Amino acid sequence: MSETLSPIDTAKFVAAKQAVGFVEDGMKLGLGTGSTAAWMVRCLAERIREEGLNIVGVPTSTRTAELARSLGIKVISLDEAKWLDMTIDGADEFDDELNLIKGGGGALLQEKIVATASDQMVVISDASKSVETLGAFPLPVEVIPFGWQTSKALLEEALNSMDVLGQSATLRMNGEAPYVTDEGNHILDLHLQRIGNARQLALVLNQVPGLVENGLFIDICDKVVIGHGDGRVEVRDIITGENTEGMVEFADTDNIFADL
Ligand code: A5P
Repeated sequence: MSETLSPIDTAKFVAAKQAVGFVEDGMKLGLGTGSTAAWMVRCLAERIREEGLNIVGVPTSTRTAELARSLGIKVISLDEAKWLDMTIDGADEFDDELNLIKGGGGALLQEKIVATASDQMVVISDASKSVETLGAFPLPVEVIPFGWQTSKALLEEALNSMDVLGQSATLRMNGEAPYVTDEGNHILDLHLQRIGNARQLALVLNQVPGLVENGLFIDICDKVVIGHGDGRVEVRDIITGENTEGMVEFADTDNIFADL
């Protein structure tokens, strides 16, 4: 095990490395956003370099696009790709049915479009994101700037009739200014504590005027790869119902550590 990595980074890295092992030559891949997805982009670049794979990536944010390009991964738009073989992305929470909360990194809109346009979505995570019931992590929703305070009020009203514990929404900030997404929108974080019916909530949220998309990913994820600090990885597959466990071995000299 690498002595350069903390247990949490090791967990993210081994999950990413295992998931990148699912990639086959010629695939069109959705590239997620966040710290775990960044490990995946590094592992993917390493495989492309070492095995000469012909892979194109569709990034879910400008951050991921920049990282992928800097590592030599060919990047195209979703409109160019049209459909993807697989998307690999992180998550903020996942439950036993592999429903997710995403958007902690503010990229939920592109992430949901890209994941939905993929034959398969693989989530990579450390074990801390596994929950019995979604909702402890604040649920991000993307709103357009025009009349966002009205959208917020309508949203909180809609939450009154939902099976949730909390109902407050806060505007995500970037220092003194509202956070702005890659699409020029804002993010409201919903402090729900517990979401009783995530499927119903996802539908209701998207009825609120001004709300572009919510961070609930229902029936989108096919597989979760969970990494642990000791190098173990679990794979849960919702399609086959199989749960498998193994170890990811890696040398301290792995190229991807060079830029750390
Ligand atoms: C980005 O918008 C998010 O959906 C991320 O995928 C999620 O927040 C997980 O990020 P980390 O891997 O950094 O925890």
